[in-house]
Amino acid sequence: MALFRRGLIDIHSLSPEGILSILELARRLKEALARRDIPGYKLGRDRDMLVALLFYENSTRTRSSFEIAALRLGLQVTGFGSIEGSSVKKGESLAHTLDMFDAYQCDAVILRHPLDGAAKLASNRVGIPVFNAGDGKRQHPTQTILDLFTILERHGRLDHLHIGLSGDLKYGRTAHTLALALTLFPGNTLHLNAPANLAMPAAITDLARARGTEVVLHTSLERMVPELDIFYQTRIQRERMPDPMEFEEAKKAGVFTLDLMDRTRPGFGLMHPLPIDKALPGILPELDDHPGALYKTQAGNGVPTRMAQLALALGLADDHIAGAQREIDSSDSFLTTLPVSRKPVREGVSIRPIRDRGVVIDHLRPYAESLLARLLKLEERGDIYRAATVRSVKRPENIKGMLMIEDRALTEAELALVAALSPGARVNRIVNSQVIEKLALALPDTIAGIESLHCPNSGCVSRPEHREHVAPSFVKMGPDTVACTWCDHVMNTRELFSSLSRI
Ligand code: CP
Repeated sequence: MALFRRGLIDIHSLSPEGILSILELARRLKEALARRDIPGYKLGRDRDMLVALLFYENSTRTRSSFEIAALRLGLQVTGFGSIEGSSVKKGESLAHTLDMFDAYQCDAVILRHPLDGAAKLASNRVGIPVFNAGDGKRQHPTQTILDLFTILERHGRLDHLHIGLSGDLKYGRTAHTLALALTLFPGNTLHLNAPANLAMPAAITDLARARGTEVVLHTSLERMVPELDIFYQTRIQRERMPDPMEFEEAKKAGVFTLDLMDRTRPGFGLMHPLPIDKALPGILPELDDHPGALYKTQAGNGVPTRMAQLALALGLADDHIAGAQREIDSSDSFLTTLPVSRKPVREGVSIRPIRDRGVVIDHLRPYAESLLARLLKLEERGDIYRAATVRSVKRPENIKGMLMIEDRALTEAELALVAALSPGARVNRIVNSQVIEKLALALPDTIAGIESLHCPNSGCVSRPEHREHVAPSFVKMGPDTVACTWCDHVMNTRELFSSLSRI
């Protein structure tokens, strides 16, 4: 019953049933609001509850609709709408700012922040529900809930729809989160249209395809729009572009015109998370009053949907919720013991074998062996070792790294390090010229605590230059794929360790 008490950081934590459950409560609340049925929506009643709105970035809709949602529920609000005038300007970390609102006994935090993963940091820091009101270019899940609500109102379903996403699909967190949410429902097709430099990240399109969602890339709105049930335009996020030339290229993004509206299917809906940049509008103002333009209704849906989420998080609607949040299975087994054939160590390989006792780490990724020797601190420990990238004796087409360490066995933490650096590696323990144990290593479920290993995403809250003191960690997504725990940046292990290789 209290599954949703943690707030909402990440759309991945919600199941389709959970989303539908939130939307159903939002529907009831919207009807009660329309009737001005105060007992029907003032779920906080006489409870003394306080919600902190902490906005490190500009906002009109998310901040005011969360505030209105809290007030309509009968809750009180506090916080700041800008870091101007706050002690953030004196250099205070996010963690210390959060500690204050925890100390003031707030009941929930709504956080908007420019760094990817900031909301997760907040959720780990305080023991109260946290809502991610947009973290950098990563996610904006409460926006997605109102977007889905609007689509459901329009079409009566969230499956088997053709949804077009356009504009800044690289930095646009609303587009990322909506695309991910739509993959949870069967039969949807994502149509994507963006300038080449603002394409949807491959991690999202790959995940969509892996989940069976068709992804179609377009270069012309004229051809794309007639196929759509919903068109979701997004603003070019110029404030997130490190290079001004990127914005110049981005200006090529398509504009939705009245002429395009005339070519749409029956039931078509035009959406935008807003704001529309009046200097570079993705939708022309002539569409504002068109019956197919949903964006004003969409923004209005921010109130009942955020009321529903606050009510569920604060236990004001416990009779409603069931199964809203996924439970994550975390049984880690990165080690498999292989059968050992009791043959003497082979002679004639490229490097001299261990003759007495020690460990042979084989099938490493080519050239990973010297980095591994450094991470295992072999020289600092005075270990005797040999490292090389060699041709496999059995299969000469295979090039692999090998590391042999005399008089040494690896601890479980060291084995996890080898597995993270080079999943697929084998570790042989040698005693008296015999292999006595052979282990196959797979990527561990989590990777953490490796010195100087940082997320390569420069916008990630865990990067040391942001000084938020967040320990980097990564979770397994596939046999050689990981995602940053904080910002979701998806990469293979070569990319993860590439910055260490350059040290
Ligand atoms: N859609 C949205 O996040 O709008 P604001 O930036 O105004 O909150």
